[in-house]
Amino acid sequence: MVPEARGAVNRRFCNRGPHGCTGLVLARTAARRYGRSVVVQVGGNRDENARAYHRVRSWSHKLCEPLEVEDYVVQSMVDVSPPKWHLAHTTWFFETFLLEPFERNFRPFHPRYCYLFNSYYQQVGDMHARPQRGWLSRPTVDEIYAYRRNVDERMAELLATVPDEHQAEVHSRTELGLHHEQQHQELLLMDIKYNLSRNPLRPAYRDDLAPDVGQSAPQFEWLEQTGGECSFGHDGSGFAYDNESPRHTAFVADFHLGSRLVTNGEFLEFIEAGCYDNPEFWLSDGWTQVQQAGWKAPLYWEKIDGAWHEFTLGGLRPVNEHEPVSHVSYYEANSYAYWRGLRLPTEYEWEMVGREGPADDNDNFLENDRLHPGVAGGVVTDADRRQPAQMFGDVWELTQSPYAPYPGYRPPAGALGEYNGKFMVSQLVLRGGSCATPRSHIRSTYRNFFYPHMRWCFQGFRLARDVDNVTP
Ligand SMILES: [Fe+2]
Repeated sequence: MVPEARGAVNRRFCNRGPHGCTGLVLARTAARRYGRSVVVQVGGNRDENARAYHRVRSWSHKLCEPLEVEDYVVQSMVDVSPPKWHLAHTTWFFETFLLEPFERNFRPFHPRYCYLFNSYYQQVGDMHARPQRGWLSRPTVDEIYAYRRNVDERMAELLATVPDEHQAEVHSRTELGLHHEQQHQELLLMDIKYNLSRNPLRPAYRDDLAPDVGQSAPQFEWLEQTGGECSFGHDGSGFAYDNESPRHTAFVADFHLGSRLVTNGEFLEFIEAGCYDNPEFWLSDGWTQVQQAGWKAPLYWEKIDGAWHEFTLGGLRPVNEHEPVSHVSYYEANSYAYWRGLRLPTEYEWEMVGREGPADDNDNFLENDRLHPGVAGGVVTDADRRQPAQMFGDVWELTQSPYAPYPGYRPPAGALGEYNGKFMVSQLVLRGGSCATPRSHIRSTYRNFFYPHMRWCFQGFRLARDVDNVTP
């Protein structure tokens, strides 16, 4: 997973805590290539920005190519949105936050689309109820694609002709809109997978997705990590969401981090030990959830003729014990760690180790076109540091950190301030991106967040322990 060929290594230092030792933070040129999200260069070349816009928007169409027209309308649970809705909502975002304020003689494509395709921006106006998005047989799929074409044409005109005094703001909002589109590209895959999994025929999204065969997960190791007082959050260069700022310092004690993600085979031991039926290992809310939902295994797992299978975007497959476990909730990850006498990492611990990536083409992101988490490569020794496998891609890594504002955080003014800030309660932070995340969307400071019972995201976990914990 982590390549042997690495770019040039730069070294910078973070301030140390009471240990007084010096920790190396490695920043690689390859990390710069991918670690900074380069979607649109704010203030850059207009043609490049137009091409970036076209490139990102086209990915949404590409992801929908395997769908039949009937697939576009299904909403099989409240957290899922129909594919058609995603295509329209991302278009509404550009229409509302770019065309409406900056297009000369703006008129909406349709007077009611703002109501239908506004997700949660209260300052923009009323919206159609989220659980009822699947009721929308109209507008048709063709009409949604016509909406996209219309807004794309008008966006191309805006990007080509925006006056100098508005250029920085237009490019900044366009960049936000494209990252928003990329977020919805991952949601599209999450939602398509869930919708298809609810169909007793278990139809595959694609028939050409080959499973990993013959690879074994490397031996699990503990990698010692030196803590200290370090800076966390985005440093201001390149794009980041507001929830990654302000950059600030925090103290992290020395800790040990798992060399790779927890595998299906390891999680199977948790199942076979009867842990889904034993309240001893569960948080109270987690145990209530397990009881109410009747959970006996990760989402998408089912036993067929005595053998565990899992539904994937490539259809139903036997569970591969070497792949990382995925589609587990925070409750399940936390219980697994507790059962082992261990814990999940905090988001600071994760960021201390992951700050120099993502670093290479082999990290399993959307563009790798596997659309399923893969078997880990080995630990890579780089300079004097051993780097854990699978820090980026494959699955989002659950942390034990609540999704809360960083010190000094204030949401941006206006409706776009509703993007992240108002969700900072009762959710957990996930890091690193997944096999369904566009590579240029991710960075080491990226904070994804979900409620602790949710598990339809491509999410898994790695283990951590305190230095005085000798649990193997
Ligand atoms: Fe959205």
